[in-house]
Amino acid sequence: MDLRIYSDYKELSKEAAKLIMNVVNANPTGLLCLAAGHTPVGIYKCLVDFAREGKVDFSRCKFVSLDEWVGLGMQDEGSCIKFMHDNLFNPLGILESNIAFFNGQASDLELECKRIDEFVFKNGPIDVVLLGIGINGHIGFNEPGSAFDAYSHVAILDEITKEVGKKYFPVQRQLEKGLTLGIKHFLEARNVILVASGAGKAEIIKKTVESPPDTSLPATALKLHNNFYLLLDKEAASLL
Ligand code: F6R
Repeated sequence: MDLRIYSDYKELSKEAAKLIMNVVNANPTGLLCLAAGHTPVGIYKCLVDFAREGKVDFSRCKFVSLDEWVGLGMQDEGSCIKFMHDNLFNPLGILESNIAFFNGQASDLELECKRIDEFVFKNGPIDVVLLGIGINGHIGFNEPGSAFDAYSHVAILDEITKEVGKKYFPVQRQLEKGLTLGIKHFLEARNVILVASGAGKAEIIKKTVESPPDTSLPATALKLHNNFYLLLDKEAASLL
């Protein structure tokens, strides 16, 4: 585990973005899997700036979805697909043909998981996975108890995930399930970056750093990866 602590969110975002940029510059046709959520917003701003400054070109990269809320789609504020388009894909001008995203409104969710798995098997391994962490230790929608050897699957959302997830939605939602890449995808990726910011993440970061790999705390699985970067700001690292 390569643990790096930065003075604030701004520096964390810039350094995480630089890591991703370096991966893309090394392999401009690579496959990327990038999280939605509040933590990576600053990283995506930096990536868009880097691209506009000509430091990196994402036009030949492929992007695979990390996760999606079952029932939501592009039209829904708070869906992962809309978040990624608003914050990254549209500002970068990424072609839809280079994006494979879970359809949270698919009629057959198992088949949808298979479709995304097949995309990863065909275009992978994933060059870089960027993850955030939930206060329950989830990564993507791999909730506590998720198997480390699972690929994409339908996840029953943890109570904490449902409660905390309310922050993404302007209107109240009744969300019970998610679609997510599995931990096995993360372990088979070339690089995994987990970012956490703010005092609210300090407790789960302390547990993740101190605990051996255990399914009760999904983020600990990443310690099994040889190229696992844990990037924190000072507040998220404050209990270490
Ligand atoms: C989002 C995702 C989630 C978030 C996590 C942290 O695509 O997969 O696992 O990364 O819940 O969310 P934020 O960054 O909003 O604290």
